[in-house]
Amino acid sequence: MRNFAAATTALLFLALTAGALPKVSRVGKYLYDENGNRFFIKGIAYQTQGTVISGPDNPLNQPSTFVDNLADETACLRDIPILQQLSVNSIRAYSANSSLNHDSCMQALSSAGIYVILDLTLPLNGSIDTTLPAWSTNILDQYLRTIDAFAKYDNVLAYNIGNEVITPSATQSAPFIVAAARDIRAYLNSISSSALVGYAAIDGPSSFVVNEANFLACSASAEIDLFGLNNYEWCGNASTTTYNTVNTEFANYGVAAYFSEFGSENCAPLTRVWTEVPVMFSEPMTNVWSGGMAFSYFSDISKGANFGMATVSADNTTIVTNADFANLAAMYKAVTFVATPAQGTAPTPTLPTCPKSNPPGWNASTTLPQTPDDAACGCLESALSCLFSPPTPNYMDLVGELIGVACGLVATAGGTCDDISSDGVAGTYGRLAMCDPTIKLSYVMSQYFELNHYVNVACSFDGNGTVNANAPTGILATAAASSCIPSATVFTPSAPPVLIPGTGAKSSSNSNSGSGNSPGGTTSSGMPAIIISRGLLTGMTAAVGCVIGGMIRTLCW
Ligand SMILES: *[C@@H]1O[C@H](CO)[C@@H](O)[C@H](O)[C@H]1NC(C)=O
Ligand SMILES: *[C@@H]1O[C@H](CO)[C@@H](O)[C@H](O)[C@H]1NC(C)=O
Ligand SMILES: *[C@@H]1O[C@H](CO)[C@@H](O)[C@H](O)[C@H]1NC(C)=O
Ligand SMILES: *[C@@H]1O[C@H](CO)[C@@H](O)[C@H](O)[C@H]1NC(C)=O
Ligand SMILES: *[C@@H]1O[C@H](CO)[C@@H](O)[C@H](O)[C@H]1NC(C)=O
Ligand SMILES: *[C@@H]1O[C@H](CO)[C@@H](O)[C@H](O)[C@H]1NC(C)=O
Repeated sequence: MRNFAAATTALLFLALTAGALPKVSRVGKYLYDENGNRFFIKGIAYQTQGTVISGPDNPLNQPSTFVDNLADETACLRDIPILQQLSVNSIRAYSANSSLNHDSCMQALSSAGIYVILDLTLPLNGSIDTTLPAWSTNILDQYLRTIDAFAKYDNVLAYNIGNEVITPSATQSAPFIVAAARDIRAYLNSISSSALVGYAAIDGPSSFVVNEANFLACSASAEIDLFGLNNYEWCGNASTTTYNTVNTEFANYGVAAYFSEFGSENCAPLTRVWTEVPVMFSEPMTNVWSGGMAFSYFSDISKGANFGMATVSADNTTIVTNADFANLAAMYKAVTFVATPAQGTAPTPTLPTCPKSNPPGWNASTTLPQTPDDAACGCLESALSCLFSPPTPNYMDLVGELIGVACGLVATAGGTCDDISSDGVAGTYGRLAMCDPTIKLSYVMSQYFELNHYVNVACSFDGNGTVNANAPTGILATAAASSCIPSATVFTPSAPPVLIPGTGAKSSSNSNSGSGNSPGGTTSSGMPAIIISRGLLTGMTAAVGCVIGGMIRTLCW
């Protein structure tokens, strides 16, 4: 066994070093490999569909669970020969669990010449939200953990920082996506990763798509490298003019673009013929686009159609492919990549101009939120008088609900939730908007507790809150925030705290913190050094609680 393990390790090492896939980088609007060849994405989505658990918490009926396909060695080794029948050079995976091992699958994909575009998002609360967006420590750290888990592989082509987050009817998340691109790019640079920063966009009216694409690419050093459009406009044996509009829209786009999903269902003929493939991989499309990801390898039922091309047997051991698969394989095999323009003659990159807020179809500020700062938020949390104590392991729904409840109560007592709120249309970001939702909730709970003169019941929230016995005496939550939270800063995030296995809790070391912005005067224990005397505190509290509070008189002394 010992020798076998050693041999395997040696082989893996050899393969990792000797057979490395060429790095792919973006030059202006095109992709090139390190040998100077123009690179196109000829790929397929490779993600088992999660289970949709319907309910009031899931209005969009999004998958609530996910399978980490890149951690499933057996399935991966089963599928790679089938992917090779398609002659793909890339796959797109939509979620990965950073605490699992991906060596075997990633290595085998690399050996098969297959790159991976990996979405950093997870179902439910593991993504920037469409309508209540925040770029906060929990999402940043999740993204960084996934990057850390994949940084050693040579075949990660790009990390997607979001999929269909910005929608035609809700564009306020756009500044948060750009902030994510900015911080993830800075992190990738800091670990010398050449992986591209991507985003996969929902299709929509021209005014929306163009503004969105430009918005995501217009801020130097926060621009994405790879704009993915989930494009399903080609249906069946469509006319070759089908893509004329989208070609015109992206003709002068400043960064690389591709179809992050394509392959419409329920068309005539019903079996997909993939006649878009030869169009996508020849001029004039290749002047604008860098290929696409056909949707989907695994069964994926959406809008009454199954987009899957491979059916897995009940015991997971064998695969049956369908006619869509055979047609796609024939089309993909016939593709020859266009070589032009040569890398040396690629047009000089020019980033687009940022769309102004409020043109038709666009409504987002170019003022970006700051880099989420774990250390500053942790400093604040340790000084709060009342802490959210999760009653169940899955508490993110409850946190959202309780923030609403607590903000309502604080408002009744004359306070506000401005510190934890943000507005991507106005470009205003509360100083705690970047913190983990549980810390935001504890902050609001603490304010309510203070406003009620620390009567224990005011920290209970029906058993969801606990008095923080370790909090320094006499510090108002707002004062702790002033002490701990630096004014909005942008910095290169560092590796996130390690997750303590099985608990979702974090170890205390190695947190993200802005360099040179150490929160005004912290003690060695991380506690804010501003201590307000109890007398002053109670005076202030009384003023807030009682002057405003004719209506909450019973809560006053
Ligand atoms: C659709 O296109 C395929 C592939 O080019 C061709 O074989 C087929 O005859 C076409 N079918 C129709 C209904 O046009
Ligand atoms: C088959 O694989 C899926 C994950 O893709 C897993 O959820 C399921 O339990 C497996 N079934 C069997 C019989 O191993
Ligand atoms: C943009 O958002 C603001 C604030 O939410 C709203 O008042 C305005 O009508 C929106 N404009 C457009 C064009 O959507
Ligand atoms: C988590 O997602 C659920 C479902 O969308 C939502 O109700 C809840 O408010 C979210 N929690 C937080 C803290 O954002
Ligand atoms: C926490 O708050 C929720 C929502 O208000 C409530 O249903 C629940 O009973 C509270 N207590 C615990 C321990 O979950
Ligand atoms: C990741 O895998 C670990 C180990 O199986 C599990 O405890 C954890 O819940 C998983 N995380 C997610 C987000 O699914």
